[in-house]
Amino acid sequence: MSRFYLTTPLYYVNARPHIGHAYTTIVADTLARWHRQRGEEVFLLTGTDEHGGKIAQAAAKAGLPPKAFADQTSETFKALWKKLGISYDHFIRTTDTAHERVVQQVLERLKPQLELGTYTFWYCVPCETSFGLNEVDSSKAVCPQCQRPITQVEEEDYFLPLEKHRSWLKEQIERNPDFVIRPASRRNEVLAMLEKELPDLCITRPKERVSWGIQVPFSPGHVTYVWFDALLNYVSALGWPDGEKFRLYWEETGAVHLVGKDIIRHHCLYWPIILHAAGIRPPRMVFAHGWWLVKGEKMSKSKGNIVEPEAVVSAYGLDPFRYFLLRDVPFGEDGVFSEEALVKRINADLANDLGNLVYRTLTMLEKHLGGRIPARSSAAGLTLAKDFYDTWQKMTNFLSAMLPSEALKALWELINKANQSVEIKAPWRLAKEGRREELEAFLYDLAEALRVVSLFLWPFLPTTAEAIWRQMGFQGLLSSERLPAALETPIPAGQMVRKEPPLFPRLE
Ligand code: MSP
Repeated sequence: MSRFYLTTPLYYVNARPHIGHAYTTIVADTLARWHRQRGEEVFLLTGTDEHGGKIAQAAAKAGLPPKAFADQTSETFKALWKKLGISYDHFIRTTDTAHERVVQQVLERLKPQLELGTYTFWYCVPCETSFGLNEVDSSKAVCPQCQRPITQVEEEDYFLPLEKHRSWLKEQIERNPDFVIRPASRRNEVLAMLEKELPDLCITRPKERVSWGIQVPFSPGHVTYVWFDALLNYVSALGWPDGEKFRLYWEETGAVHLVGKDIIRHHCLYWPIILHAAGIRPPRMVFAHGWWLVKGEKMSKSKGNIVEPEAVVSAYGLDPFRYFLLRDVPFGEDGVFSEEALVKRINADLANDLGNLVYRTLTMLEKHLGGRIPARSSAAGLTLAKDFYDTWQKMTNFLSAMLPSEALKALWELINKANQSVEIKAPWRLAKEGRREELEAFLYDLAEALRVVSLFLWPFLPTTAEAIWRQMGFQGLLSSERLPAALETPIPAGQMVRKEPPLFPRLE
């Protein structure tokens, strides 16, 4: 049995979800559905990152204890993922008792390697925010956020030495096909980071400064640094150290982590070294995607340029939104979000190409054959069918390489070919001239193309694919179909179509 373990980052529970957050999760959902459709066992993990000073501050502002605040806001993410059709298998919260226990166990295991040392950083009192030594220009000593004077602070913390693992990690990335960083540009960035000596990683915080965190089991005065805690979700969710899921998905299969490019240091340096130090194998792959930009700037709460996924879905529908994110930008590159670009995609690809193919096929079946799909013809009329397997293989290659936009392009080649075949065959002429056998053969071919399109489309736009399936008169669920087996199953002879209004009305 083939398996697939895929993770999204954990979203800060105080974040206001924007399309940058929705993006990773929609891509993850698409990949997970595609693997399920191939009959694989899939575990898709997402969740919320709930510890640390920032979240304690946000809770205080909301007038709630941190846990009660996180209980509320993690529901916002769950509700959003439901709205976006995300088929996750587990939603982890870093305040889950099982997760906290795993973090403490890992700390115990690493204890002999940890060193107590002095952590020096910049701290802005009004912002209650700390900055690394390299984040503040020491000649000016002002807060990068509010521009007010900032002070340097020293405190005692536990450190995990990273330098002694540097050559191991370099070798993993350079020689081991089991730890892949994609795209290649990010891999090069990580390799460049590994050219320099790695400073020790501070993995605790004194409770007098940050109290909202996981207790360090061997130091009453310390809690765990939020990133150390959060990264461990990827193994705690599987029941490390001896859970069956951990064995199957982590040890036998290997994890694929989807992250944004701003967090590669954490995922490609700290994370594999933490695992190595704890005697756990590294993940199989980290794929770092680009940013969604608005007017040239990264979309983020602090820049105030957020586009909310709910607003886009309410205005344009879920599948147009998913389609735009998946199709418009090659996974790995930055993308620009604008309503103009979204409307253009809806009109050209969804209304014109796909919607038109669905509507005209069903209309012709109704008009010429009373809505009945004819029996599969033995005649050599099946011209489109030759492309089904080829398209499937192309899409498989692209999705294995994590390139959903390219896979959709390949699918649209088939859709366009089907549309062109209508122009070439001119079924209305066949009907007029009474060439019944040719007409039936062609309309079967076209109906079959539509069936295959809905199968191929399902991982990307599940709602639309189900609608096509339903309109074609299928009773069963499209989600239970398995590829490539379903490619060979003909449409039951005599099945009646049930046409509905056009799937994607054109927008002005
Ligand atoms: N909590 C950490 C991740 C811990 S993973 C163990 C975190 N959270 S976050 O909420 O700030 O960001 C979550 C993800 O959203 C990151 O992968 C980040 O790259 C992504 N994005 C945030 N803004 C983005 C865009 N404008 N565009 C695309 N993705 C971006 O980091």
